[in-house]
Formats: sequence, C-alpha cells, structure tokens
Amino acid sequence: MSDRHRVRIDLHVASAPRECGIHVGAAVLEEAGEILSPHVRGRRLAIICDAAVAQTHAQTLAGACSGSGFDCHQIAVPSGEAHKTLESAARLYEAMFAASLDRSSAVIALGGGVTTDLAGFVAATFMRGITLINAPTTLLGMVDAAIGGKTGVNFPLPGSAVLGKNLVGAFHHPAAVLMDVATLHTLPPRAFRCGLAECIKHALIADPSMLDWIEAHSAALQPARSGELVDFIARNARIKADVVAGDERESGQRLLLNLGHTFAHAIETRPELGLEHGEAVALGLLAACAAGEHLKITNLELRPRLRAVIGQLGLPVRLSSSPPLAEVLSAMNADKKIEDGKLRLLIPVDVGVVEMVRSAPDSAVEAGLASISP
Ligand SMILES: NC(=O)c1ccc[n+]([C@@H]2O[C@H](COP(=O)([O-])OP(=O)(O)OC[C@H]3O[C@@H](n4cnc5c(N)ncnc54)[C@H](O)[C@@H]3O)[C@@H](O)[C@H]2O)c1
Repeated sequence: MSDRHRVRIDLHVASAPRECGIHVGAAVLEEAGEILSPHVRGRRLAIICDAAVAQTHAQTLAGACSGSGFDCHQIAVPSGEAHKTLESAARLYEAMFAASLDRSSAVIALGGGVTTDLAGFVAATFMRGITLINAPTTLLGMVDAAIGGKTGVNFPLPGSAVLGKNLVGAFHHPAAVLMDVATLHTLPPRAFRCGLAECIKHALIADPSMLDWIEAHSAALQPARSGELVDFIARNARIKADVVAGDERESGQRLLLNLGHTFAHAIETRPELGLEHGEAVALGLLAACAAGEHLKITNLELRPRLRAVIGQLGLPVRLSSSPPLAEVLSAMNADKKIEDGKLRLLIPVDVGVVEMVRSAPDSAVEAGLASISP
C-alpha cells in the first residue's frame, strides 16, 4: 500500500453549516493551506500547539498555511493534562488579542486530545466563537478527541485539589480535521498505545470484527506502518463520526462512547497512580466488565479476552496502588454521567453489546475497582 494512501470521511451534524472533512493520510499537514482555505474568512490563524510539537509539526503546518497566504501566529501550550485549565485558556485569549485575531480568524489545534480540547474550547469562546480546525498528532486524538465537537477544560472539584475532568466546556465542531500519520513518528510509544485503548472501546461498542483484527494484527499497529495505519485510523474515525452524526449532543447513542470512562475519569486525575488518559480507559473497560459480572449481565468470557488483548498491546491491566473506594465514588458522583443524583454506568455485556445501568449500586463500582487493584 502506498505511503500517499489517503482517506476522506465527511461528517455532517445539524449544528454545523457544512460537512466536516476528516482527512487521513501521510503529509496531510503539507496541504493544510489548501484544505482550510474554504473554511476561513480572514487571513489570520492562531496555531495553538502542544509544546512537544512546536519545533517540528507546527513548523510544517505554519509553512503550508503561510504558503497559502495566511498570517500565522503560533502559540505553544506546555504539554500535559495539568495544563488543560481555564488559566491556560486565559493565556491563549491574551495571546490571540495581542495578535489582533478577530471573528474572521481561525484556530488550528495541533497536538493530542489535551490540545484539541483546550484550543477547541478557546475557539468556541473567543469573541463568542471562531472557526476551529483540528490537527491531531496523537493516535488518541485522531481516532477520538479531534472528532465530534466536544471541547473543554478540567476544573477543581469543590473542596478538593483534584481536577474534575472536562467539567467546563462547549460543543464546537471543527470545520475540518487534518490527520497526518507522519506526526505519529515522533509520538512516544506510551502515548501511541493510549490511542489503542479507545480503538478497543470502539470495537466493543460498534465493530466486533475489529477486536478480532486487533488481536491478530497488534504487531502491525506501529506508527511506521503508515498504509495499514491510515485504514485503521479511518475505520475508527468513521465509527466515531457515525455515532456523532446520529446523536450530536449526546442524548442517546453517543453516550456509548463513554464506555469505561466513568472509571477512567475517577482514576486518571489521581497523581499517585501516574496514569495517562488512554491507560485509564483501558483499566476502565476492564473495571466496567467486572462491574457487569457483579450485576450478572456480562458474558464471563469477555473480561479474560479483553485483559489479554489490552496486555498484548502494552497497556496496563492493574493499578499501581488501590485508591480509596470512597474517593473514587465521590469523583464518579461529580462526573457528568450522573443523572438525578444516580450513577449511570455503561456496561459491556459482550463484544458489540453495551448496556446502560441507570442506578448502579456502589457494590458494582467496588467490584470493578477490585478487579483492577494490585
Ligand atoms: N473531546 C473528546 O471527545 C475527547 C475524547 C477522548 C479524549 N479526550 C481528551 O484527550 C486527552 C488525552 O489525549 P492524548 O492521549 O492525545 O494526550 P495528550 O494530548 O496529553 O498527548 C499525549 C502526549 O504526547 C505528546 N505529543 C502529542 N503529539 C505528539 C507528537 N506527534 N510527537 C511527540 N509528542 C507528542 C504530548 O506532549 C503529551 O505528552 C484527555 O484530556 C481526554 O480527556 C477528549
């Protein structure tokens, strides 16, 4: 398969004036100027990038946009979840006002999910909203975070130093998404593996045959194998795009994309556990499976199978220490999956079958947590 292999997926949602083109392939950033020209009224662009890609992929992107006549202002944000905050957003607004960006300008978010969430929130709120283009540079960003218009920042839980995940945010769809697989060549292996956790989630929700494929082809899932990777990313991006197209504001089907995330959000912001988001999702999927066993709705063959594939991909299957149950429950209760004070828990029943348990008992959470404890 050629290294120039490209896939384009079109996502249409009711709130966006036109469809969002999702471009997957190698050297997509080099064509950024042409791709984004029809979407940007003015000539000024803010390239909001993760500091880790400021000297590399941001230069490629800025060169391509300048070549198409845009006036680019690069603003780097320090790497890491700890910077996905309102303080970072305020610094970005300041830099954008200083660069005289206006309502005809656009933001290009270049980085992983932390950057697309933060820069997307800034684009949603700067002068009441300007055009956003996402250019994810992590696998997780490509298969998940850069698609679907959810933007936001973390916010401290009341009376606690722990940040609540994505508690402040907005829906703001990108006008286009540029997925250049060449950016994955510089991605640390640990960050690459994190993206695979969301792909397992997609398989569990919507594509049982993809779980077979991942089990059989885990060795092919390397940043350097760009042909296979383009198709794999496109397959996952299409799953996410189809779910979003059917339920833009997360009132039904889209909730399924949160599979594993209620557990994940409660453990990933605990610094002593040292977890990245994708690692917490992998553990969250296993915990949700165990919670389903406790509730007697999950196929008992599912968790060993999941555990094997998660381990085979180099993702964690156990926590490094056990967080106190009461604190996990309290973090879950502050999560957005609470309705009328009751915890809604998504449970994998089997591959391709997910059930929403609307009033999950604490004992199910306890069973889930116990299953991933050291
Ligand atoms: N909005 C959504 O729908 C959605 C969906 C899933 C996840 N998310 C969010 O995404 C975030 C996780 O995203 P992530 O896993 O991409 O993490 P991340 O953005 O923190 O990136 C992971 C690491 O890779 C580095 N990096 C990024 N691209 C690189 C590259 N090409 N080369 C070298 N280093 C690079 C970053 O500096 C960081 O250290 C979480 O905050 C999560 O809440 C959002």
